[in-house]
Amino acid sequence: MQLTLFVEAVYLVAAVLFIFSLAGLSKQESARRGSVLGMIGMGLALAATLVLSLRDSEKPVFVTLLLIVLALLIGAGIGVWRARTVEMTQMPELIAMFHSFVGLAAVLVGYDSFLTERASVVGYTEVYLGVFIGAVTFTGSIIAYLKLAAKIKSAPLTLPARNLINLGILVLSAALMVWFLAAPSIWPLAIMTVLALLLGLHLVAAIGGGDMPVVVSMLNSYSGWAAAAAGFMLSNNLLIITGALVGSSGAILSYLMCKAMNRKFMSVILGGFGQKTSTSSKSQDLGDYSEVKAPEAAELLKNAKSVVIAPGYGMAVAKAQYSVADLVSKLRARGVEVRFAVHPVAGRLPGHMNVLLAEAKVPYDIVLEMDEINDDFPDTDVVIVIGANDTVNPAAENDPDSPIAGMPVLKVWEAKKVIVIKRSMGVGYAGVQNPLFFNDNTSMLFGDAKAVVDQLLQDL
Ligand code: TAP
Repeated sequence: MQLTLFVEAVYLVAAVLFIFSLAGLSKQESARRGSVLGMIGMGLALAATLVLSLRDSEKPVFVTLLLIVLALLIGAGIGVWRARTVEMTQMPELIAMFHSFVGLAAVLVGYDSFLTERASVVGYTEVYLGVFIGAVTFTGSIIAYLKLAAKIKSAPLTLPARNLINLGILVLSAALMVWFLAAPSIWPLAIMTVLALLLGLHLVAAIGGGDMPVVVSMLNSYSGWAAAAAGFMLSNNLLIITGALVGSSGAILSYLMCKAMNRKFMSVILGGFGQKTSTSSKSQDLGDYSEVKAPEAAELLKNAKSVVIAPGYGMAVAKAQYSVADLVSKLRARGVEVRFAVHPVAGRLPGHMNVLLAEAKVPYDIVLEMDEINDDFPDTDVVIVIGANDTVNPAAENDPDSPIAGMPVLKVWEAKKVIVIKRSMGVGYAGVQNPLFFNDNTSMLFGDAKAVVDQLLQDL
């Protein structure tokens, strides 16, 4: 009894640490501390669970200990190896794979609880819901992983009656739940599991590969709820709290991403937003654009008092962040005020630019969010757009027919001069041409972002 109380107290401490960890992760300055707090919390939770498992073990303590340590070593080994080898741009697919494990764990815990425990109606409800959410998360995450890793084609699978199929599976699963609760047996549970696996598969297959990051964040939320359901089945308060934290923070993140990309939150949750984006304005004649070479651009930068850099996906592709950080140091040393304007969905994953800039040791205080800097452009001498496109596209504000209409964007065109570094006049993620490139105060500086910034560094 005393041991149980002690473990519960440790769980409580771990839960509080997780909450502080999340709070820390919301700001760059405190993100490192947040990670450390989360790790301490998880260490405590694992230790407490180990103690409980050994006490309750039906096998000899030595065997249980050996099995757990073995599982920990294998899991931690794979985790360390993946974390060390993964590229930043592969992060979403790695996360998708992890979510599939959480989903699978919830399904296994559900079956274990059903087979080994005499449960009440509440217990059976927990089992049923846990297995359902877990199975959807499992196959959904696998499809998300395969699409992101380009192992299957990323185009959305649009079956003719796809919404009807989803609805049909939901209704059938609800009917099976009634059967399961009225006469608990393996049959309704097993049939529902197959249906839920198909639902996860179909929901995510219906979404285009480019929209996968929002889906991954949504699956993150589902995996949290699956973990919480497993927590109810195992009567483990910490798992319930942690699952709820992951479930709600994942949902909030998905909501923020949808808002920043002007997507409808509900249609994402229902897996219905894989529509093709229109490319109507791709071939639109927007007039002539002007070009600038690196020495001229360097001259403009030398004479500027204030410079704002708007980075985007192309900076990540070119791995130009270190050169950009050097450029910033050099300009600052010359007395130029340099700041970054980071759009909430610049790049391909939440916080993509922030992570890259932090990696290159750019000071946090000059990295500003869109809302913090959007009013400052009229007073800015030069804006350098590095591999960004959609996030600086004025069509989002001016063209109601544009596929990105309504998406909030960085108003870089209000600056006195705009230099755009990219390789061609090619379109960005949304597949639409960008009128910014044709403005009188915009000059295109063509080339790979890293090569161009290195050239600028030489010319400065
Ligand atoms: P994008 O609109 O994707 O444009 C990136 C530009 O970078 C391209 O036009 C490309 O032009 C250029 N580029 C590519 N490789 C380059 C290289 N090596 N050197 C220089 N330039 C290079 O970028 P963005 O402004 O960051 O916008 C992000 C987009 O992704 C938004 O539409 C957003 O909704 C979407 N999205 C974001 C997220 C998150 S969470 N961040 C998730 C899903 C989708 P060239 O080919 O001409 O070089």
